[in-house]
Amino acid sequence: MVQEKPAPGQQEVKNVVRTFYNSLNEHLNKSGFGEYSTFLNWGYVADHNPEFSQIQLPKRCLNKNCLKLILELVGDCDLTDRDILEVGCGRGGNIQTLDRFFAAKSFTGLDITPASIAFCKQHLENQQRHFLEGDAETLPFADSSFDVVINVESSNAYPHIFQFYSQVVRVLKPGGYFLYTDILKIEQFEDCIKYLQDQGLVLEVERDITSNVLLSRQEMAKTQMKSFGMLAPNDSSNTTAAEKDVFDFFLAPEDSQFFQQIQEGRFSYKIFRFKKI
Ligand SMILES: C[S@@+](CC[C@H](N)C(=O)[O-])C[C@H]1O[C@@H](n2cnc3c(N)ncnc32)[C@H](O)[C@@H]1O
Repeated sequence: MVQEKPAPGQQEVKNVVRTFYNSLNEHLNKSGFGEYSTFLNWGYVADHNPEFSQIQLPKRCLNKNCLKLILELVGDCDLTDRDILEVGCGRGGNIQTLDRFFAAKSFTGLDITPASIAFCKQHLENQQRHFLEGDAETLPFADSSFDVVINVESSNAYPHIFQFYSQVVRVLKPGGYFLYTDILKIEQFEDCIKYLQDQGLVLEVERDITSNVLLSRQEMAKTQMKSFGMLAPNDSSNTTAAEKDVFDFFLAPEDSQFFQQIQEGRFSYKIFRFKKI
């Protein structure tokens, strides 16, 4: 989900993110189905575009669109015996899914939101999976610590996205992969790719999955809204304009201005695979 970014300084942006996701966690944990709400992203639905995942999911499965997004991001990248870091892991659904389908060596999930990390530690941590609180822009790991760094729908909230990219390059081992997916303004992509290439990463895969993500928004936004304890703007006369903006940015339901802007091509949702040489 996209977090609304206020103008103030970077620490304040990060505090807004923490507060927002802490209260979302609080709601989910109280809801009775919190244990199954392990994803906080927009998901992916297959359409006419080629699919890259090697794994066939059953027709009916829990959180199917979110599982599909992480599996499409991995595509044919070999995760066997790899040390994997997810930056902005939220409630751990991506790591849980990767552990289910791939024989990786270890998983580390990092997130800035204390309540998400507390949830992951309580429900998902084991000998192979570790979770810690931290900031994407100052990763608390030694150089060349990971074979794969994953980032799913999180970087749009970082005040200094290039600082995050430098950290990714630093913690990746030579030969390692950066598997990256997010929604950004279309004019941002060129600079982002150039920055990563200038830092020594080679772009191996670039896919525009906007249509797949919009299909998922049409399918799931309203259900997510209910499970996250948000009221649809039309469902409540008390909803303020500010609350409606947050709702639109976070979930992009079909009838929102944000959904329309994405459809008009002002934003794209892309998948990238970069390799550190
Ligand atoms: C839309 S959620 C996606 C979570 C997860 N990747 C998923 O796919 O379910 C965005 C996540 O990014 C995290 N985040 C935002 N800013 C961050 C930062 N500066 N450092 C680390 N995590 C951050 C939020 O706490 C939130 O969990």
